[in-house]
Amino acid sequence: MVKKKTIFICQQCGYQSPKWLGKCPSCNNWNSMIEELKPTKGACFSNLGFESMPKSINDIKSGEHERLDTGIMELNRVLGGGIVRGSITLISGAPGIGKSTLLLQAASNIADKYEKVLYVSGEESEEQIKMRGDRLNSLSNNLYVISETNLDKIESHIEKNKPTFVVIDSIQTLFKEYVSSAPGSVSQVRETSNHIMRIGKSNSISFFIVAHVTKQGELAGPRVLEHIVDTVLSFEGERTEEFRILRTVKNRFGTTSEIGVFEMAEHGLRQISNPSAAFLGERDFQKEGSIVIGIMEGRRPILVEIQALVSETRAVIPRRTAVGVDISRLNLILAVLEKKIKIPFYNCDVYANVVGGLKLEGTFGDLGLALALISSSKSKEMSLDNLLAVGEVGLTGEIRPVSFCDRIVSEAEKMGFKNILIPSRNKEKINNKKINIIGVSSLKESLNKVF
Ligand code: TYD
Ligand code: MG
Repeated sequence: MVKKKTIFICQQCGYQSPKWLGKCPSCNNWNSMIEELKPTKGACFSNLGFESMPKSINDIKSGEHERLDTGIMELNRVLGGGIVRGSITLISGAPGIGKSTLLLQAASNIADKYEKVLYVSGEESEEQIKMRGDRLNSLSNNLYVISETNLDKIESHIEKNKPTFVVIDSIQTLFKEYVSSAPGSVSQVRETSNHIMRIGKSNSISFFIVAHVTKQGELAGPRVLEHIVDTVLSFEGERTEEFRILRTVKNRFGTTSEIGVFEMAEHGLRQISNPSAAFLGERDFQKEGSIVIGIMEGRRPILVEIQALVSETRAVIPRRTAVGVDISRLNLILAVLEKKIKIPFYNCDVYANVVGGLKLEGTFGDLGLALALISSSKSKEMSLDNLLAVGEVGLTGEIRPVSFCDRIVSEAEKMGFKNILIPSRNKEKINNKKINIIGVSSLKESLNKVF
């Protein structure tokens, strides 16, 4: 028998090597090289099946893409107004976060409003999908489900049934016969996703592909998948937390960094259309070590509570724990506070937490976090009631302006806050508000106003 040739392929980036390596020289990931059968001829390159012909750029029609309404406002928003016909969207997220539930709901809505929809599951049997469906409200007659992992068979079902929309749950279970490695390996994922792309683009069928993530939150399988598809969504949050956040990582048909907020309920995922109200919940305002901050998520202002706890420790290396806050941002703010306000943290454990499972990005929350830290370390409540803070903290202790501050101020006013601390340079441009706006230009000044 002829010995089959094998090569080692990095499961993160697709780098190939004839021998095993502990660390991938291309993406520097450890332990990511997996032995796979060497791809046979013809298996590597599949083109899109188009006749190619250069055109003058001015002859190409642009115009709006036709979009499918998913019947879920939050999902539509994240996609930039619905699913573009013929587009391929990847949705990734930890197991149990609700990917299958969200897609089954969307698939049923689309089937109701348009024509046939096919839900392909490689993970669950048809009965299992039905059981999930029974928990949701009524499902459309036009929604077809199939439990299948062979992509060629799936393609023939698509050709026969001509659906408008297809869900693939998940890409890691699909395989093509001529690719000899196991489902979920780089070669299979690359081949199957290229094939799906070809089916989608040539028949104008929209696809939603589910992809698993590893414990570290990386997309299991190759990064190449993200490059192939049109849109990448990521479903985030802890299974145990109330709220789940759907984020756009990449979008060829809309803006990124839009978010949709959901809550897992008894009958599927429920949309949260007023996230500020949901995140703030039944907040008790005068609390030590806690403050509300305003952030922008895409074009949406959201108010969340941030909490800090500073407690003395005898440990040689004090603890720094941040949930929802970037740990390096926390360290930076601690360093500024030590140096500029002379508050010692070297003998203290420090914990910071964003309530509700939201992950802060950017610098909107700096000032709030600094105030919460000071409040906890001095065991003092803030003297202004109903207070909100927003602003970036610079290394010299100055408060730097943030973008879209006016929208956060309006949101705070809408949510019934009385006082808002914002950077002075932002204040100059905002007027005519009922809320009391306090402009600050340094940390010291903020302390004097708040404590
Ligand atoms: P699931 O959509 O299967 O997650 P994923 O596909 O991302 O792995 O479901 C996630 C969890 O949600 C599951 O543990 C059961 C729970 N769930 C509800 O609480 N309510 C519901 O109506 C449904 C359908 C699921
Ligand atoms: Mg699932």
